[in-house]
Amino acid sequence: MFFCFCLYTTATFPFGDKHHAVQQAGQADCIHISKFIHLISLAYYRNTEISNLYLTKSSPKSQYHIMMYYSNTSCALPIADCFAAVWVRSEEEMLKFMAGQNSIWSICGRDVLAAFDLSPFRHIYDLGGGGGALAQACVSVYPNSTVTIYDLPKVVQVAKEWFVPSEEHQITFHKGDFFKDSIPEADLYILSKILHDWDDDKCKQLLAKVHKACKPGGGVLLVESLLNEDKSGPLETQLYSLNMLVQTEGKERTPAEYRNLLQAAGFTEIQVKRTGKLYDAILGRK
Ligand SMILES: C[S@@+](CC[C@H](N)C(=O)[O-])C[C@H]1O[C@@H](n2cnc3c(N)ncnc32)[C@H](O)[C@@H]1O
Repeated sequence: MFFCFCLYTTATFPFGDKHHAVQQAGQADCIHISKFIHLISLAYYRNTEISNLYLTKSSPKSQYHIMMYYSNTSCALPIADCFAAVWVRSEEEMLKFMAGQNSIWSICGRDVLAAFDLSPFRHIYDLGGGGGALAQACVSVYPNSTVTIYDLPKVVQVAKEWFVPSEEHQITFHKGDFFKDSIPEADLYILSKILHDWDDDKCKQLLAKVHKACKPGGGVLLVESLLNEDKSGPLETQLYSLNMLVQTEGKERTPAEYRNLLQAAGFTEIQVKRTGKLYDAILGRK
């Protein structure tokens, strides 16, 4: 179906022009396209502005990769096995996952990074930074910062090869397992879509380690989709939580729940900012 949105990015022509459509389709799409065209052969179609923006593969704000990832993947293993399983299954699946995780930051990266003034923090570690889209947005919003993407070795290798241009000198990489290996000292640690993967005990373990590594006066920025305090919504966050239940050992949480986790690890001056978009920001200080 996504093929149709991409096909109509630039042109409006009758869907009845089967020859034109099929010429532009890949082999695999041809059968679906032909059936679709047969059904609606006399109508004229074009993308809406929103389809052009979010559903076509070539748009800078495309959500194509994350939708394709969610529509084709499910994982009924515990999270540790789940990440390992996705990474081991194939590099192609890992690429899809990383591109999918990256795609949201073209829409709300700036909002979560500008929710607080992060300019005093010069050296930032993005723990579990994946494909690096948030790190790239960070050095763009804060040009005096450097960001180190810390992730599992294979993920770092793929991020370097496919997602972060080598001329991006403000971004460096660190291969490691944040539960097993040491976390180097820094001014700020970003944990974006990390705590929602894990249960409370693992979150406390990780945050305590981050607190120990953090420079005095430094901080931690959590980027997560926040539930209302009474968990009555927002609907998207409830659906994410359901997804976390199926795919991980984590869940989406309320601001109070994140506050408790941060306090248990020793962080103070905790502030919560809702951005009005899908992801929000919480800052804690050491
Ligand atoms: C849900 S993704 C979030 C990616 C990125 N932070 C973002 O916001 O787009 C979780 C990331 O955590 C990484 N991760 C999972 N377990 C890890 C571990 N033990 N040590 C380091 N990174 C880990 C995964 O490889 C993946 O890149």
